[in-house]
Amino acid sequence: MRITFYGHNSFLLESDVSILTDPFIASNPKAQHILMENIKADYVLITHGHADHLADLDKIMAHNDAKIITMVEVASWLAKQGHSHSHSLNFGGTYEFSGVTSAKYVQAVHSSSMPDGSYGGHPGSFILKTEGKTIFIAGDTALHSDLKLFGALNDIDLAILPIGGNYTMDSEDALHAAKFLNCSQIIGCHYDSFPEINIDHQAAIKLFKSHQLDLQLLAIGTIITL
Ligand code: NI
Ligand code: MN
Repeated sequence: MRITFYGHNSFLLESDVSILTDPFIASNPKAQHILMENIKADYVLITHGHADHLADLDKIMAHNDAKIITMVEVASWLAKQGHSHSHSLNFGGTYEFSGVTSAKYVQAVHSSSMPDGSYGGHPGSFILKTEGKTIFIAGDTALHSDLKLFGALNDIDLAILPIGGNYTMDSEDALHAAKFLNCSQIIGCHYDSFPEINIDHQAAIKLFKSHQLDLQLLAIGTIITL
């Protein structure tokens, strides 16, 4: 599969279907060089209701007939904003995109409210399975022990983990999370977008390396293949 990093928690995951996560691109001061009109998505996954995870949903939906997969309270709020092409999940639920691609919605430790202050349910993570690979998409979360459960029950090839601290795990807790998930390949997210989540890239990479784990901090716009 092909993975493109669009900054913050926005990734385009392309296998037999094209899935965009947490659209915050045109609104991200660090992603101004990305042309959102070129992003083609069949689905949009939204981990929770905070603006830095859905601020650019309208822009994506303007040129994509995409289906939104998200927490039930987020989906019902989005329906009131005119986005009714969605499928709502709650924890433990799995959405089947195709015969080979699915995403399970599981609990995260964070908060969730919509941009107007409405209740946003609880925040979650997605366990995406596609073409024989399993990717853990953490969304925003603190370190928590259920990550051990996800690692025990899934053979995770890649974990996308927040590392910026302040609002989520920092790189030290993300290191523990990677171990709980039993995953050695990590892509960092939720860092450098705002001053309070700026990180020292080399220190974070070195920390993971000292534990035989591979942390990648991709430049915005970078494409990798898994
Ligand atoms: Ni958040
Ligand atoms: Mn966030």
